[in-house]
Amino acid sequence: MALIQTDNKVTVGKIERVKTGIKGLDELLSGGIPKESITLVSGPPGSGKSIFCYQFIAQGAEDGKRCLYLTLDKKIEGLLLQASELGIHFESAIQTGQVKFVFLNINKKLIYESMINEILSGNYDRVVLDSITPLSEMPIYVNNPEFSTESNTIDHDEISTGNFPVRRLHLHYIMSALETAKCTAVVTSELPSGSTSYSRDGLSEFLADGVIILSLDPTMDRRKLAVMKMRSTKHTLKPQNIEIGKGGMQII
Ligand SMILES: Nc1ncnc2c1ncn2[C@@H]1O[C@H](COP(=O)(O)OP(=O)(O)OP(=O)(O)O)[C@@H](O)[C@H]1O
Ligand SMILES: [Mg+2]
Repeated sequence: MALIQTDNKVTVGKIERVKTGIKGLDELLSGGIPKESITLVSGPPGSGKSIFCYQFIAQGAEDGKRCLYLTLDKKIEGLLLQASELGIHFESAIQTGQVKFVFLNINKKLIYESMINEILSGNYDRVVLDSITPLSEMPIYVNNPEFSTESNTIDHDEISTGNFPVRRLHLHYIMSALETAKCTAVVTSELPSGSTSYSRDGLSEFLADGVIILSLDPTMDRRKLAVMKMRSTKHTLKPQNIEIGKGGMQII
């Protein structure tokens, strides 16, 4: 909660909120997600995680904010095309430098450094990481003096087995960069179909300030969105019906 100091008086300030750009969702969240928070958006393939992110970035651009979209998909043009099919156009905001799409190559050893340099150097208001799952599962190679002391303590056998402490380290590294950047972030996590977990890694949901679950109900031909956690926000846990069409997703 923001503390505002005026004339030696400390008052508890009103939480500043950031609009998601998703019709019906901001109303469920008392106006939006808290500014400078990290929200995890999890769901199975095709549940709308990337579309959620397009709308979050498009809303940021509309509000005149600097936005970064980190993707593990090397076909950025394909993403832009998918967005434009939905009526979400980024081209002019990309040209003016207000929105930047960056491909993260998970085959590069120093992926963490390039990602974190980008997050910290761009003075972004909104950052999307789509998705955190492959990053949380890969070995760590960092060329950072602060981090290397810590990395010396890692038992490297644990990396190959994907043991808990190493995954936690990856996720802490990413989440703390987002916190340091003082941006409002959305991070996606891929869930296997039918999963009841909140993330693939089983840890991001504890590190994030908010958790939104997207799900599919093929039998009923329905899509749903549920807010499971949101810092400083009173909200329903009830899954909401959503639809995807022109403009992206909306709560119906
Ligand atoms: N123009 C459109 N009109 C209606 N529905 C669409 C449109 N474009 C995509 N969709 C729906 O959205 C789904 C894809 O959404 P999205 O790419 O956001 O999913 P995702 O959760 O990111 O999936 P993945 O885990 O594979 O990345 C498609 O499978 C389709 O059902
Ligand atoms: Mg996606």
